[in-house]
Amino acid sequence: MSSAIVQMQELRCHFGSGDALLAAVDGVNLEIEAGEVLGLVGESGSDKSTLGRIIAGLQPRSAGELIIGGEAMPRHYNRRQFKTMSTQIQMVFQDSYASLNPRMTILASLQEPLWSQGVDAAAARAKACYWLERVGLPQSAGERYPHELSGGQRQRIGIARAFIAEPKLVICDEPVSALDVSVQAQIINLLQELQTEHNTAMLFIAHDLAVVRFLATRTAVMYLGEIVELGATPHLFEGPRHPYTAKLLAAHLDGVIKERKLAPAIRGQSAGHKAPLASDSGCRFAPRCAMAEPACSANPPWLRPTKVATMAACHRLADVEILKLRK
Ligand SMILES: Nc1ncnc2c1ncn2[C@@H]1O[C@H](COP(=O)(O)OP(=O)(O)OP(=O)(O)O)[C@@H](O)[C@H]1O
Ligand SMILES: [Mg+2]
Repeated sequence: MSSAIVQMQELRCHFGSGDALLAAVDGVNLEIEAGEVLGLVGESGSDKSTLGRIIAGLQPRSAGELIIGGEAMPRHYNRRQFKTMSTQIQMVFQDSYASLNPRMTILASLQEPLWSQGVDAAAARAKACYWLERVGLPQSAGERYPHELSGGQRQRIGIARAFIAEPKLVICDEPVSALDVSVQAQIINLLQELQTEHNTAMLFIAHDLAVVRFLATRTAVMYLGEIVELGATPHLFEGPRHPYTAKLLAAHLDGVIKERKLAPAIRGQSAGHKAPLASDSGCRFAPRCAMAEPACSANPPWLRPTKVATMAACHRLADVEILKLRK
């Protein structure tokens, strides 16, 4: 049996209907192994959050298989399945304010995930007090409401809430991008400590490539709903094989993907613009790719092993590898 916590097979999510049917997540095959940190990067609109939300059960998929802890999940969960899924998978959102109930004290918010698991009141309170301290907040913060905390403090609570019920996977969707730069590193360090301490798997979605390089064991690169490159983080960052990954890394400035910097280099179709399903024949990146040739627009590429032990979905892979060898 696979040790994967999550297995995705040809996972798809389409929005709209009829002629306006747009492909979002489009045929993703990916596994998240126990205890690993999988980074997920790509430009704005490449469907990273949509993929995270599907895994967390917050967005139904349109097609494909989603297997969690060995159990094939239906498109819409019943109560039992939602409970099973949410004990195993939790999410940390970019907007910590929206993810907390404004009418609940911090201590009550922390206990909430435990109540749904049937943990008794005294044990839940004790655990919430422990986690308050573990994420670096004083006990007095427990009696406060979300609006009385700073963004960094609220995100600490969001993190405690995600870890408190000991899930197997925590999905972090841009967990620090709304925070002051001065607190970002503290929050990243906290996430890393907790991940190591509890051996929790993490799907870490971020624009900040430096943070992904620091945290992630493996990295997946997403372009218009597809995984175009996947592999061990050092290999992928040091020897990108997909022309899109190479552009993404080149555009990376001060650790953050600058969309403006990408624009002149990658012309044509922009990420976020969805190709209608009907014209979905070749490589999605071809209209923006300096290496594209007519054949690239004829058939979709699939993920293939590269010489640096990553996987890349590019028809020109052999030529890219020759170019790399020459450099
Ligand atoms: N509920 C929805 N209905 C229609 N379209 C949607 C819906 N949710 C997402 N989309 C489409 O999918 C696109 C990608 O969204 P998503 O938020 O997953 O991208 P992302 O890679 O997380 O971007 P960012 O880096 O900006 O967070 C959106 O631009 C939007 O067009
Ligand atoms: Mg997003």
